[in-house]
Amino acid sequence: MTQNWTKSSWRQKPRIQMPDYPDQDALHRVEAKLSSYPPLVFAGEARALKRKLGAAARGEAFLLQGGDCAESFAEFNADSIRDTFKVLLQMAIVLTYGAKVPVVKVGRMAGQFAKPRSSAMETMGGVELPSYRGDIINGFDFTPEARIPDPDRMLQAYTQAAASLNLLRAFSTGGYADMHRVHSWTLGFSEGEKAERYREMTNRISDTLDFLTAAGITSETSRDLATVDFYTSHEALLLEYEEALCRVDSTSGQPIAGSGHLIWIGDRTRQPDGAHVEFCRGVQNPIGLKCGPSLTADDLKVLLAKLNPTNEAGRLTLIARFGAGQVGDHLPRLIKAVQEEGANVLWTCDPMHGNVIKSSTGYKTRPFESILREVREFFAVHNAEGTIPGGVHFEMTGKDVTECTGGLHAVSDEDLSQRYHTACDPRLNASQSLELAFLVAEELDGRREKLAAAS
Ligand code: PEP
Ligand code: CO
Repeated sequence: MTQNWTKSSWRQKPRIQMPDYPDQDALHRVEAKLSSYPPLVFAGEARALKRKLGAAARGEAFLLQGGDCAESFAEFNADSIRDTFKVLLQMAIVLTYGAKVPVVKVGRMAGQFAKPRSSAMETMGGVELPSYRGDIINGFDFTPEARIPDPDRMLQAYTQAAASLNLLRAFSTGGYADMHRVHSWTLGFSEGEKAERYREMTNRISDTLDFLTAAGITSETSRDLATVDFYTSHEALLLEYEEALCRVDSTSGQPIAGSGHLIWIGDRTRQPDGAHVEFCRGVQNPIGLKCGPSLTADDLKVLLAKLNPTNEAGRLTLIARFGAGQVGDHLPRLIKAVQEEGANVLWTCDPMHGNVIKSSTGYKTRPFESILREVREFFAVHNAEGTIPGGVHFEMTGKDVTECTGGLHAVSDEDLSQRYHTACDPRLNASQSLELAFLVAEELDGRREKLAAAS
């Protein structure tokens, strides 16, 4: 077991971004109940994911992580889960085609409920109330009652996560994920030069599948064409919930966060001596660490040592989220810090969280062009440094929402009000997600040539 660590040792550290529950008795009852429930994931699965992330760090795989900014109780239904899952699989096929290596598929799903906020209070029409912190903590409605942290919400989140994961597991192996099926997308990419490029790639993928079928490699003969390995992830923000679902893995004797396969530490809660780092350092899951512009090289070095003291492959994923135009200012210095420590990490790019702006119509949005630009800068810096761009991290949904502007269907500032449904940050819709996958696939083509030349 990690030195001086218990599943409760985070309680001795400074806690930020977590609610102070007014009803402590109710909190303790919920914690006791959750502690007696089954974990949602099995340690062997988290270890398998870790091995795959280790491969991604070497350029032998590529990570695709995506899903809601915040899952919500109101939007909980089979269609939402299916649509997001389907778009992730479609993106994965496109990325596999570009990278020519396996794509590791990880949803921001089945547990992504708790949200850090930049401000503790929210003001609307002259009324000030505590901020919404995700459905696992308080309610979205702008009323004093809804905004009181309610521990019973943890039980509902657990139930929703369990049911979501159950459906995802069924989709992954029950026939829904068959590559031939998933590939039969209807993009509605009608005209223009860009659409032509996407159509061309789609046709090449179709031809490849037809060839495999002709050669006798079908869903019946190959498990790999008929099923996928799909993993879950979320920000480990609400530590009472994480602690209550922490278990000791009977195979290794090591603690494991039972709430999801991969958990990450947010950009606001990555203080080396804070509660969140303390909890995450002791569980054996793969851990993500958000790296924003304020992360110093010295802090990163301390975090590398704390979170991955044995330098295990696949243990630590660094999720760069600087904002378009800022990657060149920050990524090289952090890559240098990693190199100075000889640390084994997987670098991925979250082009969402550094690119939030307020639209002219008042909505919080993210321009497609900025998202794409940050991805390109991420690849360019890694190419220049001779390091490996190993994955991407998106906030997206399978639904036809209008939350991010731009893309082939050119969502405008005026369009945002039409279908703006997110409980937190603006997400890419299905068509924007797929378009981004095509564009990342083109970047991956370049990565492949670079890796081949280096070997
Ligand atoms: C998020 O991933 O939803 C998030 C809040 O990210 P960050 O910690 O990078 O701001
Ligand atoms: Co977000």
